[in-house]
Amino acid sequence: MNINTVVTAPYADQCPGTSGLRKKTQTFITQANYLENYIQSCLCVVDVDKHQPIIIGGDGRYYNDIAIQQTIRIALGNGFTDIRVCQRGLLSTPACSHLIRHCQATLGFVFSASHNPGGENGDVGIKLNVANGGPAPVSLTDEIYAYSQQISHYVIADTADIDLMDCQYYRFGEARVAVIDGVGDYVKLMQSLFDFALIRDYLTSNRLQFDAMHAITGPYAKAIFVDCLGVDANDILNATPLPDFAGQHPDPSPTTAKTLYNTAMSPDCPFSLLAASDGDGDRNMIVGHKLFVNPSDSLAVIAANHTAIKQFQSLPFVGVARSLPTSRAVDVVANALGIDCYETPTGWKFFGNLLDANRINLCGEESFGTSGHHIREKDGIWAVLCWLSILATQKQSVSAVMQSHWARFGRHYYARYDFEGLSVQAGEQILADLTQKDTKSLQFNQQDCTELGHFSYTDPTNQSHISHQGYQVKFGESARFVVRLSGTGTVGATLRLYLEVFDSDFMQQPDVVVAPLAQHALAFIDLARYHHTTQPTAIV
Ligand code: G6P
Ligand code: ZN
Repeated sequence: MNINTVVTAPYADQCPGTSGLRKKTQTFITQANYLENYIQSCLCVVDVDKHQPIIIGGDGRYYNDIAIQQTIRIALGNGFTDIRVCQRGLLSTPACSHLIRHCQATLGFVFSASHNPGGENGDVGIKLNVANGGPAPVSLTDEIYAYSQQISHYVIADTADIDLMDCQYYRFGEARVAVIDGVGDYVKLMQSLFDFALIRDYLTSNRLQFDAMHAITGPYAKAIFVDCLGVDANDILNATPLPDFAGQHPDPSPTTAKTLYNTAMSPDCPFSLLAASDGDGDRNMIVGHKLFVNPSDSLAVIAANHTAIKQFQSLPFVGVARSLPTSRAVDVVANALGIDCYETPTGWKFFGNLLDANRINLCGEESFGTSGHHIREKDGIWAVLCWLSILATQKQSVSAVMQSHWARFGRHYYARYDFEGLSVQAGEQILADLTQKDTKSLQFNQQDCTELGHFSYTDPTNQSHISHQGYQVKFGESARFVVRLSGTGTVGATLRLYLEVFDSDFMQQPDVVVAPLAQHALAFIDLARYHHTTQPTAIV
């Protein structure tokens, strides 16, 4: 095996965002060594035993084939001797997290821009996970970025493409590249965490519809829902991963999973539960007949009903966590259960240490992410299995489960307004200027503002500190809004406004309840000063 050293020059924009490095596909295609620089930077900075396994896969999107083959070569060039790449290159983010832990791998690459569109005009992403199975922590991504800013060469093996169709081994001197099954171990994990007999029995008289959005969860959904749980294969929509996701946006939301959502809202919907996942399989959307379950509520319901889930039956249920903009519905449940509840910055990486330290069993985010201590990523199919377990145990519809939840705990009405297409400068200025506001007379629904400011977080396990993670304005327990900039976009800036209003009357319309708070927040931010419109581009 020949190893070549290739001279290269840094790219100033290789700073990873909320979830890895994400750029337009064209950036990777047209800018020489863009991928290679970043992979080399990752492999130089991670301080790991090069004889331990590393895992490589992706969500099937355009350019993954090139990214995977080049990463194998660069890993070989850098002296890694146990490279495990998934069959057909297909690996979901949660399955990668599990494989890392299961094989005692030191790191894993998932080539995915998550819920962002794919294809030649879409996005490409590189997610790096570390030995606990979780996303690389900020300290590491900072180092990777610093390295990428002074990179002068990368090292690459001169080897042919590996055939990824069948599981087999390839030897290169003392190094081995193994093509492995990216699905089977994850299926076994789910079988160990849930009572499949209970769910299978429930599904004999109740139907699940699942939309894999032509992204990574198709093979996993077929193996779990169809082969293990008896779901009709026709009830898995868009089950074949495609490089451009059939031109769709692989985002499990009411607007992008429209067919499924419309079915759920139709009067004669035949399904008891409808769900979808995203590009790389870590997000989930849960919908019942005529009821969209807000992700913050979903987290609270899973916490409140954790005893219905086998995974949570064997260990003490000690704590939960949510990101700052996620509604406080789960806090109320935690309080009732007498367990800890942590508030972290946005980004799954902040849950990892809490999970490692056994401080929490369950965590989630408003951005359609939920998971437990079984891995260190959010897990779309897992969340669906949690809901199936709850429905099978309670023998009630999704809307009955929600109503009894709200009747017991009250309801946190919630919405997220997204303002896309801001300039980066305008976005940053808005956040910077919030500090200067006159806040003396801030009130909402006769309730004074009780707390406001930029959110900072000190990780209780290692005291690492991070500031400016969104601006929060609280009106006691009754209302709150949060403003932050998205960290996952690839063009301009997206401002997100998160709105939460608590009311014990749970039968109101969410959009009606949060609208006055939205007006209040927009006036406070003074968005019109910075942007040509105050109309959100999307309301989630
Ligand atoms: C990714 C991360 C999530 C995070 C989300 C926020 O999906 O994995 O943990 O909540 O990004 O996205 P945003 O666009 O709001 O930064
Ligand atoms: Zn994702």
